[in-house]
Order: sequence, then structure tokens, then C-alpha cells
Amino acid sequence: MVSRLYILIALSLFCLALVQSTVDARPSNRIVAVGDLHSDYSNTLAVLQMAKIIDSRGNWIAGQDTLIQTGDNVDRGSGTIAIFKLLQKLRKQAKNAGGALARAIRAVGQEVMNLHGDLRYVTKDEIASFGGPEARKAAWDMQTGWLGSFIYNSFNISHIQNGHTVFSHADMSVEWAKKGVEQMNIMAHQALSEKSFEEPIFKTYGPVWNRDLAKQTAGEEETCEIIDKIKRILGVNRLVSGHTAQSKTGKVLSLCNGGYIDIDVGITGYYGGHLAALEIIENSDGTQTVSAIYPTRKIVIS
Ligand SMILES: *[C@@H]1O[C@H](CO)[C@@H](O)[C@H](O)[C@H]1NC(C)=O
Repeated sequence: MVSRLYILIALSLFCLALVQSTVDARPSNRIVAVGDLHSDYSNTLAVLQMAKIIDSRGNWIAGQDTLIQTGDNVDRGSGTIAIFKLLQKLRKQAKNAGGALARAIRAVGQEVMNLHGDLRYVTKDEIASFGGPEARKAAWDMQTGWLGSFIYNSFNISHIQNGHTVFSHADMSVEWAKKGVEQMNIMAHQALSEKSFEEPIFKTYGPVWNRDLAKQTAGEEETCEIIDKIKRILGVNRLVSGHTAQSKTGKVLSLCNGGYIDIDVGITGYYGGHLAALEIIENSDGTQTVSAIYPTRKIVIS
């Protein structure tokens, strides 16, 4: 059971995938990120439509924009297959869009648990949607399953976008940041391929589970110091995570002047069905304007 959980986690981490195409044109200056979707397909469509990433038929309309999804697309609901099929389609459409730099990125979270065969949060309906436990297991196989291999090959545990923002499913720590994003990605893939789901990278204080920043466990001031330190180590302007559901407020959590942003607003009906996405606009002077997009308004964070 525990090892299944870690597979899910590893998969979740691997959802930080970067899809990239290089047709020539002016690259977009817009990056959109959405947090945990948890098998809620209709709210996935709703949040991506709200952020003008897809149209009402679920097709990519964001041209050369970048979409980043921070993992946890499984569990708690029955729309796992539909969500991953949508992500696969969007990855292709983004790649072909407008002839420039189109990327779709995601970071894996609870997917690692599923890769590992830990199904503790998986619903009965969801298992039935795969055609039963055996068929589900086959789909999640990292070598031979359509879903397992997609997650293993297309996602990472962490990702730095254009040098200014680091994305991970859960929170970074100083210790993990010191290893660097590339090393974390290599370590996570290595552990997955060896089915070593007990590695520290998949455990409580690793970037798939840690909640210390969102919960400010070290206290307000100290947490800001930690965030600044992690930013310095990784050379970025901000850290963006999902994982710690802000279901009480349904709002994007911004700490330390936008140095840390939690985008898990509880998009899935299970956590309240709150719609929100993060938008980062890259300005010509090298700065970024970061906003939270909600159904009726957009609020500038930093
Ligand atoms: C995952 O990370 C590795 C190491 O940083 C990188 O080489 C690779 O391109 C990344 N893969 C994806 C899908 O982003």
C-alpha cells in the first residue's frame, strides 16, 4: 500500500513535464499555471477556459503561451482518464500552435502514489473507469501503460520557467533547493525507474509532500527568510507550489510579497470547486507581473 502511494507521488512529480516546439515566431510572454485537479474533469475544463487556455470544446487557444500544471491530477474523483487524455491532446496542440515556442508543463504529485500502486485516495468509480483494478494497474505501468509511461516520460518533479519562477508540486526546502532542479529531476526519475518509492525525495519533506512554506511552520518572518534563501539558491524570483489546498478561502495564497505562491485553491469539487489560475506576464524590462485569475476578476499579486 505504502509503495503504491509513493508511485502516485512520483508520477505526480513527473507531471512537471515540459512540452516544447520550435517553429519560428514571436514567443508569447504569458505563462499560466493551475494547481491540483484531482480527477475533476469538468472543473479542469472550467479553469482552463477561464484562463483562456482552451475553448469550450477543450481545444488549445493559447497560441504560444506556456501552461504549467503542478500535479495531483488523480484521486478524489473519477475523471483521471479524461484529464490525462486532455493533457496529452493539449500538449500536441500547444506544440503545433502558432508556430513558435509553445510549451505545456506539469509537475507531478499524487501521481507518484499511483505509479507506486498506492491507491488509498482513488475512488471506486475511477477504478471502474479504467475497466477494473487489473486494467488500471496495466494503464499505470511506467514502461508499458499509456498513462504510466506518459507520466514517467513527460513530467518532472520540479521545473524552472525562463529562469524566473520555480514550480514544484509541494514546497521546496533549503536542503532540496541546494541539490538544484536538474539533480532533483534526475534523482526522482532514477528512484521511479528503480521503483524505490521510499527515497527521501518522495517523503514528507521532499518537494512532493512538504507543506512548511504554505503553513509557515517556522513562523511568518522565518518563513520569509527561508523563502528568500531558496530563491537565492535557485536563482529565481518566486516559488510556486500546489498541494496545500486553500479550500477555506478558495484564493491563491501569496506570501512574502509574492516570493512564494500556493496555487492549490481547491479546484476539485471535493475541495470546494474554487476556480483560480496564476498568470505571469513577462515584461520587456525583464520583470514579471504576476496575477491571480478568478472567474470574475484578476488580482495583481506582484
Ligand atoms: C526533466 O528534467 C531534466 C533534467 O533537468 C531535463 O533534462 C528534461 O528535459 C526535463 N523533462 C521535461 C519533460 O521537462
